[in-house]
Amino acid sequence: MQRILVTGGAGFIGCNFVHYIMEHTGLHVTVLDKLTYAGNLESLSGLPSQRFDFVHGDICDATVVDPLTAAVDAVVHFAAESHNDNSLQEPRPFVDTNLLGTFTLIEAARKHGTRFHHISTDEVYGDLALNDPGRFTEDSVYRPTSPYSATKAGSDMLVRAWVRSFGLKATISNCSNNYGPYQHVEKFIPRQITNILDGMRPRLYGNGRNVRDWIHVEDHSSAVLAILEGGRLGETYLIGADGERSNREVVEKLLALTGQSPEAYDLVGDRPGHDLRYAIDSSKLRRELGWAPRYSDFDAGLAAAVQWYRSNEQWWRPQKAATESKYAGQGH
Ligand code: NAD
Ligand code: DAU
Repeated sequence: MQRILVTGGAGFIGCNFVHYIMEHTGLHVTVLDKLTYAGNLESLSGLPSQRFDFVHGDICDATVVDPLTAAVDAVVHFAAESHNDNSLQEPRPFVDTNLLGTFTLIEAARKHGTRFHHISTDEVYGDLALNDPGRFTEDSVYRPTSPYSATKAGSDMLVRAWVRSFGLKATISNCSNNYGPYQHVEKFIPRQITNILDGMRPRLYGNGRNVRDWIHVEDHSSAVLAILEGGRLGETYLIGADGERSNREVVEKLLALTGQSPEAYDLVGDRPGHDLRYAIDSSKLRRELGWAPRYSDFDAGLAAAVQWYRSNEQWWRPQKAATESKYAGQGH
């Protein structure tokens, strides 16, 4: 494998993956990205031009996707509409990009015999009760609850059907909640960090007891590379780092890291259909591919994220006001 196409490489996880690939492999990377509100070319600045190029385009456009897919050994597909709150306001772009975009890519990969890795989410499995000792595994039943997770579940099903019916050379990974550098300020952790830096109080949906299973984005990247290199075709791998925390615990930790009172947050209206808890059992990935997360200390990872947003205000500042006014319109 010498050349890969990374879709959505100007977004949060995609750009971190591209930086990881540049540092840890000799692969050539082409990024295909539509540069929606969530894409930012600054996140890819400074990459070596002999190993990297960028194509501005839409994954739903077969005339763009087809030649790019033919020219590489593998496609790693991150591009998506990714934010649940947006999917509740305006679902249509989620159907277009997550379903039709994935369809367009797998048709090209099937035609050219290109290896395909599909990036997906633990949200396809719905949620777990707060007092349920269980965790999601590769055998969990699909029970998506939001327009976002329903379209991601549909995209997984398309990939699975193309594997079975057409022999598509594909793998799928479903990962839990990521945090780290270059994450859009609409998402929970960057929103609360940048609120605190701006002298505003963090805002917790509902009672703040919902639980997410946090993983540092660099650990997601190392897992995807391990699957790309050693994963069995047709298989699904769950990616997680045993990072379960309630939203309230995360906010209290952020307040402590920034020298604020632990009660200096507000409870606001809940997200409709708000999933209670996600939890990943990643033992298949660890057993088969020897993968392990490097960021096992969540508090240290969170402190590093606070430092990144402190040091990179020029990156997030242009998005902050528009994001907050969108939330104000939703009562959040
Ligand atoms: P993001 O919203 O930060 O980035 C998405 C990127 O895709 C942006 O650069 C955007 O411009 C691009 N894009 C959107 N529509 C496009 C289109 N039609 N054509 C080309 N490019 C398009 O998302 P993210 O948080 O980095 O998530 C990346 C992937 O990882 C998604 O598939 C998401 O479902 C999955 N995922 C995310 C998380 C998480 O915690 N953020 C966890 C598990 C899985
Ligand atoms: O589980 C993986 C998923 O994680 C990914 O597939 C999604 O792309 C990604 O956005 C993320 O989805 P969530 O909905 O879990 O993430 P979000 O950052 O939007 O919210 C995390 C939790 O924090 C959730 O319980 C809602 C809550 N929340 C969020 C915001 C923005 C708040 O309490 N306050 C907020 O201001």
